[in-house]
Amino acid sequence: MTRAKILSVGRYLPERRVTNFDLANMFETSDEWIQQRTGIVERRYADEGVFCSDLALEASKDCLKNAGMKPEDIDFIVFATLSPDHHFPGTGVYLQRKLGITDIGCLDIRNQCTGFLYSLAVADAFVRMGMYKRILVVGSEVHSSALHYTKEGRDVAVLFGDGAGAVLVGPSDGSSGILSSHLHADGRYAEILMLEIFNISKKPYITHQTLDEGKQYPKMVGREVFKVAVTKIPEVVNEALNANNLKVEDIDIFLPHQANLRINQFAAQQLGVPEEKFFSNIQRYGNTTAGSLPIALSEALEQGLIHEGSLIMMVAFGSGFTWGANIIRW
Ligand code: COA
Repeated sequence: MTRAKILSVGRYLPERRVTNFDLANMFETSDEWIQQRTGIVERRYADEGVFCSDLALEASKDCLKNAGMKPEDIDFIVFATLSPDHHFPGTGVYLQRKLGITDIGCLDIRNQCTGFLYSLAVADAFVRMGMYKRILVVGSEVHSSALHYTKEGRDVAVLFGDGAGAVLVGPSDGSSGILSSHLHADGRYAEILMLEIFNISKKPYITHQTLDEGKQYPKMVGREVFKVAVTKIPEVVNEALNANNLKVEDIDIFLPHQANLRINQFAAQQLGVPEEKFFSNIQRYGNTTAGSLPIALSEALEQGLIHEGSLIMMVAFGSGFTWGANIIRW
């Protein structure tokens, strides 16, 4: 069976920088509190009127330019986000329309911080099956519209930023490619990090009362996320290593989801990986959820951290809980 590989990568971050000091002007928090607990210094916010699909479009254009390809060359779209343009239809179709193409299939993946990782696994399977040859896989988020800029919502508001990344996945003609994907979930933790507003069991499912109660803002039990993340990340890294008969030292670079610098430092320590091998850009972007991994990949490539033959481990953990890893030979 043909192996699938990442042919090209792109990213887009909105211009507007929002520092911890800017947030401290909006509600009770401080640069010191945020940096100490998360490592975040600033994040980017999209302007009013900008959709998730708009950021995705820019990242896709960057990816296509780097591949020397046109939108017409894409034969399928996989779109990961937790901040879709609308509840339905899926955001993939808006991206397709903005790219100026029609007819090709669009699949939306709703897996939050592991959305890109799951999407890459799906694209990998489609390519290996021979179904498609040029799959655009995008992770994009506009979080800034749905954060609660008050003391009540500050634990979540300081963490997230807007941004998008995209990759093209196609058949490999050599030994490079996605070696394996390892996907997990545990629905017992579904309420630990969630957006409650869409409660379809209620008739009507959104009321003035639920809005007054602030259910349109994400809620999180931060400590629980932290606690489970630092066990599941090393666990799935080891699972991926074992599946490929690799040792932790064989990995040239770890691209962890950028949720919290402390989570990643803790995981690196547990795995015995030097911190410089655990890529990090959360300082500048915060948590861009589905955008985080392709943005990290794009920057790591630009910084010369990835070469032909490099072994890359992507690992992510997030709401659901969902978590996973994949190993890629570049
Ligand atoms: N600024 C200042 N104070 C804040 C704050 C903020 N942004 N957010 C919370 N606090 C306060 C709390 O109100 C609490 O005050 P109290 O002791 O007077 O009640 C205190 O800080 C400690 O709150 P707590 O939630 O226990 O802090 P924490 O040490 O667990 O850190 C997180 C909070 C969110 C940084 C941490 O739990 C975390 O990073 N968890 C993982 C989150 C994550 O990665 N989510 C995305 C997953 S994909």
